[in-house]
Amino acid sequence: MCGIVGYIGKKEAYPILIKGLQRLEYRGYDSAGLALINSQGNLNVYKAKGKVADLEAYCVGKDISGCVGIAHTRWATHGEPSSVNAHPHYSASGRLALIHNGIIENYLTLKEKLSSRGIAFQSATDTEVLVQLIEYIMTSNDIGLLEAVQVALHQVIGTYAIAIVDRMHPDTIICARQSSPLVVGFDAEDNFYLASDASPIAEYTDQVVYLNDGDIAVLQRGQKLHVVNLDNVTQHPKVKQIDVTLGQLEKGGYPFFMLKEIFEQPDCLRDCMRGRINADRDKITLSAVIDFREKLVSARRIIIVGCGTSWHAGLIGKQLFESLCRIPVEVEYASEFRYREPVIFKDDVVVAISQSGETADTLAAIELARKAGAFVFGICNAIGASIPRMTSTGVYIHVGPEIGVASTKAFTGQVTVLSMLALTLANERHTISEERYKEMVVELTQIPDKMEQALKTNEQIERLAPIFTYAKNCLYLGRGYNYPVALEGALKLKEISYIHAEGYPAAEMKHGPIALIDSEMPVFVIATRDKLYEKVISNIQEVRARGGRVTALVTEGDTRIRQLADHVIELPDTLECFQPLIASIPLQLLAYHIAVCKGKDVDRPRNLAKSVTVE
Ligand code: AGP
Ligand code: GLU
Repeated sequence: MCGIVGYIGKKEAYPILIKGLQRLEYRGYDSAGLALINSQGNLNVYKAKGKVADLEAYCVGKDISGCVGIAHTRWATHGEPSSVNAHPHYSASGRLALIHNGIIENYLTLKEKLSSRGIAFQSATDTEVLVQLIEYIMTSNDIGLLEAVQVALHQVIGTYAIAIVDRMHPDTIICARQSSPLVVGFDAEDNFYLASDASPIAEYTDQVVYLNDGDIAVLQRGQKLHVVNLDNVTQHPKVKQIDVTLGQLEKGGYPFFMLKEIFEQPDCLRDCMRGRINADRDKITLSAVIDFREKLVSARRIIIVGCGTSWHAGLIGKQLFESLCRIPVEVEYASEFRYREPVIFKDDVVVAISQSGETADTLAAIELARKAGAFVFGICNAIGASIPRMTSTGVYIHVGPEIGVASTKAFTGQVTVLSMLALTLANERHTISEERYKEMVVELTQIPDKMEQALKTNEQIERLAPIFTYAKNCLYLGRGYNYPVALEGALKLKEISYIHAEGYPAAEMKHGPIALIDSEMPVFVIATRDKLYEKVISNIQEVRARGGRVTALVTEGDTRIRQLADHVIELPDTLECFQPLIASIPLQLLAYHIAVCKGKDVDRPRNLAKSVTVE
């Protein structure tokens, strides 16, 4: 989710806000806005779709005076990118302005309640519901802003970092956090700074407080920082000193965005599942399936189209839909599908997978499917991108902006959405028992914790990486659900280290590729415990018998493969169909560390773009 900046003090706020938004641009966003209270007590709000530069252009000639203000870069989750949906959002009377990072899961319930009391809404966002709720509570109970914020946040289910200003009290900014970061900085000259991370603050002060979940901070001129919780109990957060460079701050302390995004996958999948799996963890609810149940449940065939990593996710989707839902699936490279005059039936469901939602080949494949009358379903990360606008419906993966060109969290987010979709359809089609469905839903919710276990292999992999930096070619082998993981692991290595790598079904080796095996060819085998485990052991033995050097990903506690492989990386166990979510982690880390050893620009590899909008 995106960026928040705030300032209150003795200086003009506008330059601080704009520069702060520029410092947060790296996080990826689709629109931006700011609110200022000038010396006459006027609350001015300016918002623009697009870049911070577009917001600056919009502000030319407008009243940008004032020593108190808040600003926001939005990564849309509810309501497509537009100036209306951009933040800040006004309250009904125009007295309050609020900005928000995160998701208000129960926004529809709150919105219905407020609408029934005659409150009109300007935007399609979940955020606007919050500012309207706060003002409604404040005016209907005749209480102050802080108390109204506390009452309102008690009613909110979801994640938030918010900042709010009140033109009736221009000496104060109130902010709060729950599962979305917020930092307050201050100096000896009675200036307060507020931001989603320390990067917009670092040039003004090194004294900061990192708010904790449940904290509400009152930044009031002439007063010390005052922090309370939702029950108005005073909190005493520690003052910290910023001791990292600005560049490091933007990457959350990681050297590259890719490593940051690898490590944030557990939280990203929690965001992806948030609001879609109930608290009892025995039901998945996808609004797309509710809206188009008949179309999806009665699908006679599913065609999955995508490119690169998204195509690999599609291969996993194929095995999920066929094994759980008993629906035949074809997986197509969008670039091939669009030109080979495919046979498409009206009762086909075409699933288009794309992180960016702008990939030209995938867009063309969707167009072909629509012309043939098929039902098109999108799985995308970028809200309001071209693909979500072209498909009949779909599911956003909600993993936040992915900056590194090599896709990591988007891949696991796509596989998570495919898992939720396949389980939902299997439950609706009764192709799995209610008991099996519940078991699998519970296991899916445990994947983020298991990913955190898998991430602990990072140091081991960092130590192993130098061994492979001089390789000219590598082989990745896997079977079943782990065959697409082998393909994905090979693509990661190719993309960022420029070492040639190939993913292969392990059993296919004897049909030719085994001729490649010698001691110069590193072979990475995904050999986690599943129904093909014994077969994979045989494949490892075939490679070893020809002098191949094997690094194996195994299920923790495995003692057999340790006898066969040169290196073993142990991973937590999970159901076979969820193993790609775990096994992909060490292969992402391996590619990353090898590329770093080779001194490559991990986030911006040569010849590649984050979104391939040309064919
Ligand atoms: C994956 O690491 C690459 N960046 C690339 O293969 C990517 O998956 C492909 O270009 C598809 O992009 P999309 O998901 O945005 O459509
Ligand atoms: N959920 C809010 C929206 O869609 C905030 C998104 C964000 O974190 O930028 O506007």
